[in-house]
Amino acid sequence: MDTGKLMFREGLLGDRRILITGGGTGLGREMAEAFVKLGATVHICGRRLNKLEETADELMTAHGGKVVPHACDIRDADAIKVMVDAIWAEGGALDGVVNNAAGNFISRTEDLSVNGFNAIADIVFRGTFYLTLEVGKRQIAEAKPCSFLSILTTWVWNGSAFVVPSAMSKSAINTMTQSLAVEWGRYGMRFNAIAPGLFPTKGMSARLSPEGRGGNSNNQLNPMGRHGEMHELANLAVFLMGPGAEYVNGQTIAIDGAGYQATGGTFWPALHSLGDEDWDRLRAMIKGTNEKDKADRSA
Ligand code: HXC
Repeated sequence: MDTGKLMFREGLLGDRRILITGGGTGLGREMAEAFVKLGATVHICGRRLNKLEETADELMTAHGGKVVPHACDIRDADAIKVMVDAIWAEGGALDGVVNNAAGNFISRTEDLSVNGFNAIADIVFRGTFYLTLEVGKRQIAEAKPCSFLSILTTWVWNGSAFVVPSAMSKSAINTMTQSLAVEWGRYGMRFNAIAPGLFPTKGMSARLSPEGRGGNSNNQLNPMGRHGEMHELANLAVFLMGPGAEYVNGQTIAIDGAGYQATGGTFWPALHSLGDEDWDRLRAMIKGTNEKDKADRSA
């Protein structure tokens, strides 16, 4: 990201401690960079400690500050507790949490197994809730405010064919955002979400657009004729995390160049005409990516 394009003053997040799930790569890493550049202490978690350590080193070398890596699979509620204990031991309550970790792949729904559904729902739906609950209970006990930000998609409003477990799970987190904004607002906790359009990342492209033909990857169909730039997403995340936005609560804000209004932003247009052979080929490519990532995690 070109951090020169951040619209906020240096030191804006100076006294803040923020946890970003899935912060080692992709959008999570971009938000981590913006937060640390603006002075926050940033905790990042994910499944690959080596990747997280590399990201933490790179960000601290570039911007100074403090980035703390944690190996934590948010599907595992016990592992979340261990990580949150460590964060509290390092400096007590958090000021912000970004629920960014996700899993997704395109598939015809009839080709999914129960395991395939759970591979996504366990991360996006259950894992996000476990983390929110673990942090939220402690914030309540200590009467400390906190900004929770979840990274969703515009499919929370209209669903999306060919990514049904993700669309279902992210819709549930949209509901969590609205519900807890009300229930925990009195504790000074606020819950908002960002629904990004296309901001290309490696993890996303490999699983949602394996041959460059994923549903919303066609820039020509976007009213602005382009995909999003990382600093644009980061600016919105900083705004929602920063001081002065405390009355923004219970909102899901799209940042997609009006792609949602133009086309619905879903995978239907590009994928509905694929046949059995296409899906066999795409599935093999996606599974190849999953296996490679697994090998990286155990390296
Ligand atoms: C059908 C598939 C499949 C495919 C996996 N499975 N890929 N089924 N089609 N293409 C099935 C497997 O066969 C298996 O079921 C089950 O899913 C679990 O597979 P694993 O490989 O063991 O899963 P795991 O290692 O837990 O990996 C989780 C994952 C993977 C979600 C499948 O993609 C992952 O780690 N993703 C993290 C990064 C990521 O996805 N980033 C993109 C996020 S983009 P069986 O029955 O065979 O045991 C996003 C929103 C984008 O979230 C919004 C854009 C606008």
